[in-house]
Amino acid sequence: MIKVVLVGAGFIADLHLKAYLQVPDAQVVAVADVDARRAQQLAALAGGVRWATDYHEVLGLGDAVDICTPSASHAEVGMAAAALGKPLHVEKPFALSLADAERLLEAYARTGLPLMAGQTERFSLIGRTLKAVVDSGEIGRLVLARITRNHGHFWPGGWQGWQFDPAKSGGIFLHLGIHTLDLLLWLFDGAPRSIYAQTQKRASGEMEMSDYYQCVLKFQDERSAIAELSYALPRLGDTYRAAMLVGTAGSATYNSAHDSFLLDDSGPHFWDEGLGPPLVRQLAHFVECVQSGQQPLTTPAQIRTALRLALAADESARTGRVIEL
Ligand SMILES: NC(=O)c1ccc[n+]([C@@H]2O[C@H](COP(=O)([O-])OP(=O)(O)OC[C@H]3O[C@@H](n4cnc5c(N)ncnc54)[C@H](O)[C@@H]3O)[C@@H](O)[C@H]2O)c1
Repeated sequence: MIKVVLVGAGFIADLHLKAYLQVPDAQVVAVADVDARRAQQLAALAGGVRWATDYHEVLGLGDAVDICTPSASHAEVGMAAAALGKPLHVEKPFALSLADAERLLEAYARTGLPLMAGQTERFSLIGRTLKAVVDSGEIGRLVLARITRNHGHFWPGGWQGWQFDPAKSGGIFLHLGIHTLDLLLWLFDGAPRSIYAQTQKRASGEMEMSDYYQCVLKFQDERSAIAELSYALPRLGDTYRAAMLVGTAGSATYNSAHDSFLLDDSGPHFWDEGLGPPLVRQLAHFVECVQSGQQPLTTPAQIRTALRLALAADESARTGRVIEL
């Protein structure tokens, strides 16, 4: 049984706890949150386990640490987990700066302990299916990809506070876009050469953070990808996703409109599997890595490159320039 300490007891921590409850070899043994009410509530849901408002008090109680705090604090909490020699799962984005990411990556490189980033697309049905198509060799070598990912909007009200502040969340590319960028890195399995990105505010109005982006990503050998992501569909819960993969020997497409059109009391909208099942797969993988000592699917190099790419996309959108990597 792998005993896990959860740091942060907000939205995603609640889903992590529900996921761990479905992983046979995992048990959440303590919860920390600066907000005592949240810590206490999640600890009660975990079966009345220990809780604290200072994570230092409980960090050593388990075999592994899972960080679910706002992104700006990931590196600090992660370094404390490294100092205690605990395998670590860090929600995405891994860090808000390359300097913070390097600190944590180096600390874990020294220990050799499993270190995983919550790059959830690798555990979604769509992401895994696209990867299986590429790995099967049926379409030959991947040369072009187009990924569209649109969700119902959180603006305003669904999120309160730090997510809207680019200084705290990193803005659209780090906070949301890293999912698609990481998926593309995984599919192409190569180093990106450049990125060009543009953003829009479709539903976030006067708020500082954009809610829509388009970007063009170039890899070595003229291979390239187009990514589009929005959290500004008119209704919360709506999902529209599409993908096109073109290889040297064939192509494959996916469109959520074909397999998941849902009509309920709120009218017609698109549906996908949500975050629950992917998180069960993601955290089961983490627990398996802790048990076996194997390195997780998100390698240190890929964690670093995904972050670099998101930061470069942000720079491109701000400056209007193509950013060479
Ligand atoms: N993988 C995914 O698809 C996915 C989805 C949503 C969020 N996330 C990530 O999960 C993280 C948390 O997001 P959220 O939506 O749960 O946010 P949230 O605001 O709902 O929860 C964060 C919690 O952390 C607590 N906290 C803040 N600083 C702390 C500290 N120093 N020590 C202990 N607790 C602290 C807050 O009080 C809050 O309860 C973010 O990094 C976010 O990007 C990932």
